[in-house]
Parts: sequence; C-alpha cells; structure tokens
Amino acid sequence: MNTDILNILFSFSFFSILGWMLEVAYRSLRDERFVNPGLLKGPYLILYGTGALILMGAVSLLQESHLFTKALAYFAVTTGLELISGFIARYFFHASLWDYADQRFNYKGHICLKFSVYWLLLAFAFEYLIFPPYQGLLNQLSPVVKGIFAAVALSIMLADFLTVSIRRFLSMTPEEKTMTEKLFINTARPLLEDPRVAKLSQYGHHRGKTRLEHVKEVAYISFLWGNRFSLDGKAIIRGALLHDLFFYDWLREGPRLHGFRHHNIALRNAREITPLSRKEEDIIKKHMWPLTVVPPHYKESLIVSMVDTFCSARDYLGIKEHDKTAKAAAVCVNSESGDKRV
Ligand SMILES: [Fe+2]
Ligand SMILES: [Fe+2]
Repeated sequence: MNTDILNILFSFSFFSILGWMLEVAYRSLRDERFVNPGLLKGPYLILYGTGALILMGAVSLLQESHLFTKALAYFAVTTGLELISGFIARYFFHASLWDYADQRFNYKGHICLKFSVYWLLLAFAFEYLIFPPYQGLLNQLSPVVKGIFAAVALSIMLADFLTVSIRRFLSMTPEEKTMTEKLFINTARPLLEDPRVAKLSQYGHHRGKTRLEHVKEVAYISFLWGNRFSLDGKAIIRGALLHDLFFYDWLREGPRLHGFRHHNIALRNAREITPLSRKEEDIIKKHMWPLTVVPPHYKESLIVSMVDTFCSARDYLGIKEHDKTAKAAAVCVNSESGDKRV
C-alpha cells in the first residue's frame, strides 16, 4: 500500500483512540464517574481522528505562515468540524453528544466561543508538542505494524459504526413504536391464527429457534426496514410470515437440495391458505436469492431476502440475545398463535 495512505489510515486510528482517552479523562474527572463519550461503543472517537488528519494537513500547509494566520485557520477548521459533527449527530443519529446551549456566544448548542478557544489552544499544542514526536513515531514504525494496527482498528470501528447506524436508523419514539406494533399485529394476526401457520411452532428451524419464531422475526424486522423506505408493509409482513411455510424438519427429512426447493413448497402451501398478491408471491419465491438465481422483482422481496439471511446468520453465530431488534420482535409477537389483541 502507498506509504501516504498507510500513514493516513494509521494516524486516523491512532488519534481516534488518543482522542477517546482525552475525552474520557476530561468527562470522567468532571462528572466524577467513568463516562464513555461518543456514539460508538468502542474506545475511539472518529471526530478526533478526523480532526487530527485535518490539522496535520493544516500544519504542513501553514509551516511558513504568520502565527495570526495559523490561529485563524486552526480556529476555523476545529470549530467548523465541531459544528458539522454536531449537526450530523443531531439530525442523522438523533443524538446530542454535547450541548453548549448554556454557554455564552454559542450557536444552537453545537459550538461556543469558550470551547472554540480550547480547540485553538489544543491545535497549537498539536502543532508544537504532539506532531513532532508523532512524526518520529511514524518514521520508526514498520509498514507492517502500521498496517496491522490500522486494519484491526478500522475494521472494529466500521463494524461498530454500522451497528450503531442501523440501530439509530430503525429507532422509534414510543408513539411510533406503539403504532408500528399495532399495524404489524393487525396485519399478521389473521395468518398467525391459521392452524397451518401456527403449526410452524412444532418445527425447529435454527439453533433453538422454532420456524414460527423465525418467520415472525423476519417479518417484523423486514417490516421496520420497509417502513423506513416507505414500502408495502402489508405485503412484507404476509410474504415474510409465509416464506418458510413447509412442514418437515429440513435437517432430517424433506426433499433433497432443500435450500434450492423449499421456496416453491412454501409458495404452494401459502396459496392454499390465502390469496396472494404478485408481490407476496415474489417475496416467498425469491427469499433464498441469490441461491435461486432470478433476482427479486420488488424492493419488498429484496428486503425480506436480506433480513432472512441476516437473521439466519445471527442465529448460527449465537448473537441474537444482544440484539434489541430481535427483542422488539419477540415482545411484539410473543404469542405463538397471534392472539395478542391491540
Ligand atoms: Fe427459507
Ligand atoms: Fe427463512
């Protein structure tokens, strides 16, 4: 890998971790208890990693500049970064990671004069105290060490970021949650009350989970995603509830090449239970895509197929107990026959 890119990736990871330590020290001392700052769970703050990269660029560019010019530039980039980060956190993640509303000369609580001066002082400390020894460290470390460090740190950060983003994306206010659950249960109930669907509770499906639990989970999570993309929620719920409607223990019995055939068996069984729309048929028929080659015709089918794969992988990896969405699905449809009335 190009040395410059490697140094950028390493520096981003390094300063994200260093910034986390700085923030933990500051906030924990201030609140007299351990405080883990930021949106992500791990020991890093990508805001500091980004800030350090911008400052490294600014320090190199402004080497020969007057002190006043540097002060102006550092003030602008650090305050600008804090403002953009505050907006992103609040409007995309619905999180208020800091709030300067009680400070004088603040703008919407995202930035304030006092902390902008702190960032300016920190930027000068970065230029004169941190950057010179850090450059020495960068030159000393071998590319392999920097590569391994950056790869491990960035992979963990990315996984953490994606997990948090998805949870925030699917998060709801209590009122939205109640409405969503009502809609889900009212659409699902007629099918869940059918004895042939209820019979799915007699079959194990994935590692300690019955087939009925599996289809309800896939239906609920797919429904949440469908809502976020304004898709046809009714078709998603009905198609997903019927997508594995077959009555045999697929590990011990049933047709050969079950994985390639059971979607057709489920479709035949589903047609005997209820009239299906073209979209619902497509959801059932394509839920094993890409195993079934022909791609989904509707966005709803694609969502159910992806959620089915995700739920199955999660069941086999045994990480379901930590997932809040799975808990929400279980609470929402915790009746085996769908007799919860709302
Ligand atoms: Fe399936
Ligand atoms: Fe499935």
